[in-house]
Formats: sequence, C-alpha cells, structure tokens
Amino acid sequence: MTGPQHFGWFLARGFGPQGWGYPSLDWDYDWTRPEIYQEAARTLERAGFDLVIIEDAPSLGSPDTLDLRVRHAFGGPKHDPLLLAPYLFQATRHLGVVPTVNPAAYLPYTAARQFSTLQHLSGHRLGLNVVTDTGSARHFSAAEQLGHDAAYDRAEEWLAGIRSLWRSWGDGALIGDRDTDLFADGSKLHSVTHRGEHYAFDGPLNAVPFTDGEPAVVSPGGSGRGLGFAGANSDVQLALAPLNEASVRAYRAKIHDAAIAAGRSASDIKILFAIQPVITSSAEEADRIVAASAHPDDEALVQIARKQSSDLETDLTALDLDRPLDTSVFGEHVSRGSIQRLIGDRGEDAPLRAHLTALARTGRIADRSGFVGTAEEFADLIEELGDWGNDGVLLWGDFHPVTLHRTLDELVPVLRRRGILRREYVDGGLQANLRAF
Ligand SMILES: Cc1cc2nc3c(=O)[nH]c(=O)nc-3n(C[C@H](O)[C@H](O)[C@H](O)COP(=O)(O)O)c2cc1C
Repeated sequence: MTGPQHFGWFLARGFGPQGWGYPSLDWDYDWTRPEIYQEAARTLERAGFDLVIIEDAPSLGSPDTLDLRVRHAFGGPKHDPLLLAPYLFQATRHLGVVPTVNPAAYLPYTAARQFSTLQHLSGHRLGLNVVTDTGSARHFSAAEQLGHDAAYDRAEEWLAGIRSLWRSWGDGALIGDRDTDLFADGSKLHSVTHRGEHYAFDGPLNAVPFTDGEPAVVSPGGSGRGLGFAGANSDVQLALAPLNEASVRAYRAKIHDAAIAAGRSASDIKILFAIQPVITSSAEEADRIVAASAHPDDEALVQIARKQSSDLETDLTALDLDRPLDTSVFGEHVSRGSIQRLIGDRGEDAPLRAHLTALARTGRIADRSGFVGTAEEFADLIEELGDWGNDGVLLWGDFHPVTLHRTLDELVPVLRRRGILRREYVDGGLQANLRAF
C-alpha cells in the first residue's frame, strides 16, 4: 500500500455558467451568486481535498470570433476568480483556494497587497495559479504582445517583485507590544526598489508579514520554459501527461531537475497529474459507457463541435459532418498544434465526423485505455501512480453539485479505506497541508 496523496479539484469552466449546455445539469442555479461554489467547496473539504483551482481567461478572445466564444458559454463570460475566493474561504476552514492570475493584469505592488490581504483573511489558505497567456494583453495596456518565453520571463520578474514586497518587513519589524504601545519598528522595514524590464516600483509593502508562509504558487505550463518556471518558483505543478510509468517518472524528473538547478529541493514542489474520471457503480456500467462512446449520436457530436468551435475560434458547427475537414477554415490565429490535436493521425481526408467521434471516445480505467471505471479501479490507478513516487492528482470538472457527487460519492470512502486520501487537515493553512506528507 502506498501512502496518502494530495487531491485538488480544477474548476475547469472557471467562475462562469456551470452546467450550461448540458440539459441534465439544468437545476436553476445562479452562477453569478456565490452559493453554488460555496456548496461545492464544502463538499471538497468534507472529502479531504487540499485545494480547488479556479480556471480563468480574462478575455473573450479575438473581436472576429466573439460570438463563437459566448454562444454556448464555453469561452465566456467568466467573472473574476480572485473576488470569488473570499466567499469560498468563508464557507470552509481548511480548503486551499487558488484563483488563476495572469501577471499581465496586475501591477506587482497591487498584487502583493491584495494577495497578502487574502492570505491573512483566509488563515493562510490562498494559492495563485500563475498563467502566461498573452492573448488578452490588449485589455491591460497598449503594449506589444509578448512572445511565449518572454511572458514567462515577465512572470518571473512579477513573482520575484511580489515576493520581495512580501518580505519587506524584516525580522522583528512587527512588535505588537501593548505595554510599550509599540506596534512596529519602521527601521526594520526594507525599502525595496525595483527597476526591471517590465515593472518599476518601490516598497515596502503596506501589509503585515505572514505567520504561516506565503501564498502557494501553482503553475500549469508544460513547455520546457514552463517546466523551468515551475521548478524555480512553484509549490504545486499541474501536470498533463500520459499516465504510464515512463512518462510520469520523466515528467517528475524534469521538474525536480529544474528545482535543483534553481537551488531548491525536489520535495519543495508537489506535482499533481490532471485526470477527468467518470466514476461508475459497476464494471458493466463502465463497459456500457465506453461501448456507447464509440458510436456517438449527432447531438453528442454537435456538443463537442460547439466546444471545439469556442476553443479553436473557428465555427465547426456550420460544417457538414460527412465531408473532409478543410483545414483552410482555420485562420492564422489558431495554433497548428491545436489543429493537429483535432485531426490526430486520421489525415485531412477524414470527415469532420471522424475527428469529433475520436474526441467522444472514452476508454476503461481497468485496461488503462481511458478514465471510465469504478471507484475501486480508479483507486488502483492512483495507487499505481503512488508506487511511481506521485504526489497527487487534480480531478477536473465543473462545480455543479451533480458533477461533484457523481465523481466523489463512491470514490472518497474507497480512497480513505486504502489510506490514499487524508482523513484530517493539519493547522497552518494550505502550505502546511501540502507539506504534511
Ligand atoms: C491543468 C492546466 C490548467 C490550466 N489552466 C489555465 C487557466 O486557468 N488559464 C490559462 O490562461 N491557462 C491555463 N492553462 C494553460 C497554461 O497556463 C499555459 O498557457 C499553457 O500550458 C501553455 O504554456 P506552456 O507552453 O508552457 O505549456 C492550463 C494548463 C493546464 C495543463
């Protein structure tokens, strides 16, 4: 038996219309109000999860393709996850809450102060999912859009600046002695003068230092530069990789090498592999779902086409399902990698139906061909990951109560019985719980 692992939930549709477009999720929740998220956060805390990460994209995308993004609410609207965080903190006592933030959107001093405030308000439970998307740059300044690696350089400058502000209260600066009436010793505050490539600001920060560690830094980038960023800066890395031994070990080794190269230790960073399981009550049910997924009806294909149309900013729903997909429909703005992921090895002569059917197809956890299976089968997979040294997993889905209950109701007791999922939290907030094992 392997030891406990860390569990996170990735709120994949962000602070947006949960369940929109899925008739079975039509429960009349108001996604703009905090209740649906608070209910989910309480469920995750009861389940023993370490953290919830809230996806975000601050932009509705290119002006030419706006309608594709909002038509079925796959690409927006999204409200600001940083402002949802306090409501989730209020509803829970131990769960870490990790809004997605993009350095393009926040000046370092503002960010350091807001994050510090939330870290204190929450009892040290804030994390920050630092992303480097540059497509939304035009909303924040007229400056030229940065390239991929330059956006990571900027993120490192931003984070280093924020951390220097958080640390601008030196040891002994905060006194709080009622007998002498001394609150603080200003001579122990460091001035902080930053003149960098992307930011210029002075400190010190007008917020008191942390007692239980800084907000946890989470990162999702999978490129070489992204892994380097994670190794040097992150407490948690979100990993997307095939879940076989060779690739899990290789992914972990790359992050660990980057951490050591940056003067940190491998154990400073928890790597969570992202998985979206479909948990069934029996192996027969799992077999039925997998068999049906090989023959999706047109309604299911249209639903997939809608999501792809939003992600690829190209209207696939207007195309004939039974004609070859002409890749000239994709404009210059669509990355070749994304088009390649849609087409796979089927070639350009294959009809659109074949590509969408391939996306619909699921597989069984039991034979490692996919993620449909019973709670016991899923627990076997997690145990196997643990045997390879894994730190934890990130389950993926919306925050609709139906999704959470379907995923967790049978799974949590099984994981607990096997000692993979924590039964209790330690004091000290998110960092303390991440370091508890
Ligand atoms: C699990 C996971 C979650 C992500 N969440 C977000 C997100 O919420 N917002 C965002 O803009 N990008 C998100 N990304 C994309 C990454 O931030 C990054 O832009 C992308 O992986 C490209 O960087 P890379 O070239 O280093 O991989 C996510 C990626 C993964 C794997």
